[in-house]
Amino acid sequence: MILTVTLNAALDVTYGVDRLVSGTSHRVGETHERAGGKGINVARVLDLLGRPTLVTGLAGGPTGELIRGELRASGLPEALVPVGGDARRTVTVVSHADGQATVFNQPGPRVGPGEWAEFTARYARLVRDARVVVLSGSTPPGLPADAYARLIRTAAAAGARTVLDTSGPALGEALGARPDLVKPNAAELAEATGHTDMTAAALALRAAGARAVVASLGPRGLEAHTPDGAWHAAPPEALTGNPTGAGDACVAALAAGLADGRPWRRVLREAAALSAAAVLRPTAGDVDPAAYHRLRTTVRLEELHAPHTHR
Ligand SMILES: Nc1ncnc2c1ncn2[C@@H]1O[C@H](COP(=O)(O)OP(=O)(O)OP(=O)(O)O)[C@@H](O)[C@H]1O
Ligand SMILES: [Mg+2]
Repeated sequence: MILTVTLNAALDVTYGVDRLVSGTSHRVGETHERAGGKGINVARVLDLLGRPTLVTGLAGGPTGELIRGELRASGLPEALVPVGGDARRTVTVVSHADGQATVFNQPGPRVGPGEWAEFTARYARLVRDARVVVLSGSTPPGLPADAYARLIRTAAAAGARTVLDTSGPALGEALGARPDLVKPNAAELAEATGHTDMTAAALALRAAGARAVVASLGPRGLEAHTPDGAWHAAPPEALTGNPTGAGDACVAALAAGLADGRPWRRVLREAAALSAAAVLRPTAGDVDPAAYHRLRTTVRLEELHAPHTHR
């Protein structure tokens, strides 16, 4: 089983309007509500791949109930831990006239020390059945700075591999716990290390404790730095669509590859293909299966050699 952790689960609400004009009132056409947060998106993609997965994290209040209900309706097993505060919503307004999406992200409720202790106790039991643990997204207010570090150490002690996809201080603080894999995008890499050169930045994250780094570079694909070598995996062409959630599909493929203990070359090929296939779908957590199968054979994989990789 692959356990995905979403510490700041959300109800993703999407409103369709004819044309969004700031400062005016709008009639909302269609409305969609889905459980969201990056770990939940990863779980959706794993489920599409037919991989057993379990969703955990924090989700409280009436909005937390809606999140749980939607996961049940989607057939995704969940072990979310309730907290006192109401779970956050993200609101996306899609303006049909120009196809633009405008996003409003709530920060999420403050989590108290007792609630965090309850979660870590539950998590320690869940990781015993996990081959891989995926830790994705921002952390809600109130958590200790070393929250992800602690979850990584607990997973490793139980024999599970860990994949971390977060940014800012949460990423920096977690590296010392030696996650098996981190998946920053280009902006997150630059922010975390101060390097604009992606290779230098990925090597800096490894030096800080990450065992492997797979940097996602949008349409340019992936650059991986691992104990076994370094590679660049690129889609045959840049695809047009919705890149939001492509990173989550990438993480799903990486987690599945780690769970199976496959060689990096194969894992990276899968990750580049699956994430590109996610761009073709309008919602995060979904992939185009036909494109995925086509792209698996057309992804270009190139080994990167020193000194390029050892700057
Ligand atoms: N336009 C594109 N065409 C082909 N592949 C793409 C495109 N955009 C993204 N990808 C694939 O998806 C991967 C992840 O994309 P990106 O680097 O944008 O992740 P991200 O910023 O973490 O996304 P998110 O956090 O919204 O899920 C890329 O490494 C690449 O393999
Ligand atoms: Mg991302």
